Amino acid sequence: MNDLLMSKLAIIGGSGITRLDGMEILRREVVHTPFGEPSAPLTHGIFHGHEMVFLPRHGSAHTIPPHRVNYRANLWALRQIGIQKVVGVAAVGAINPAMAPGTIVIPDQIIDYTYDRDHTYFDDNLTHVTHIDFTFPYCETLRQQLLASASSANLEAGAGGTYGATQGPRLETSMEINRMEKDGCDLVGMTGMPEASLARELDMCYACCAVVANWAAGRGDGPITMREIEEHLTVGMKKVYKILLKLFIST
Ligand code: HPA
Repeated sequence: MNDLLMSKLAIIGGSGITRLDGMEILRREVVHTPFGEPSAPLTHGIFHGHEMVFLPRHGSAHTIPPHRVNYRANLWALRQIGIQKVVGVAAVGAINPAMAPGTIVIPDQIIDYTYDRDHTYFDDNLTHVTHIDFTFPYCETLRQQLLASASSANLEAGAGGTYGATQGPRLETSMEINRMEKDGCDLVGMTGMPEASLARELDMCYACCAVVANWAAGRGDGPITMREIEEHLTVGMKKVYKILLKLFIST
């Protein structure tokens, strides 16, 4: 078996997933990094017989907004303890009409609209300038494993799509969504970047499991409500658990 297959999997949980139901907690590990503190201690546990690590992106009590997440510390901490494979679970809004709320999508591309975030490790005290290749932003092996897991759980998951990462914490205007659609975005979320590119900078295998929580601004029947988001997240998260279960069994 190669290193990637043997490596422990980590889940970064987003809105609606501050802990992983069904995970037996072994220990919590506080990790300090040169880039500051991660969102929470890393939780080591057993999920249906498989060792894994869980990190709640928005903190244990869900108090860190998307633009304040210390993405550098989160990925660095996971790498520091030897993690090579990460699934980022993320709530998103749907721009593409085929990606209805409550469904799961495994995106294959990203457009980054975020700003003012610490988005690289190649910043200070460099001995040389580094440009990572980011043509295909997600780890294709892990994407395919997630899609195969969805299908063995008898769930349909969108097999691709472009994730547009916005700054937040406000939601978008309807015209911003129109512009994003013209750009080619299918989904909109606030946490997909720089998480994906930092993982690539660290040479980690990273994929996103997007849970569609709402129609994007201007695409539904009225304003976007937190109630609507929570309801769809509840439905979507049940699917995420089933997919993760199959993923752990298969890797
Ligand atoms: N926009 C941005 N981020 C989101 C959305 C949205 O509509 N829904 C969930 N996260």
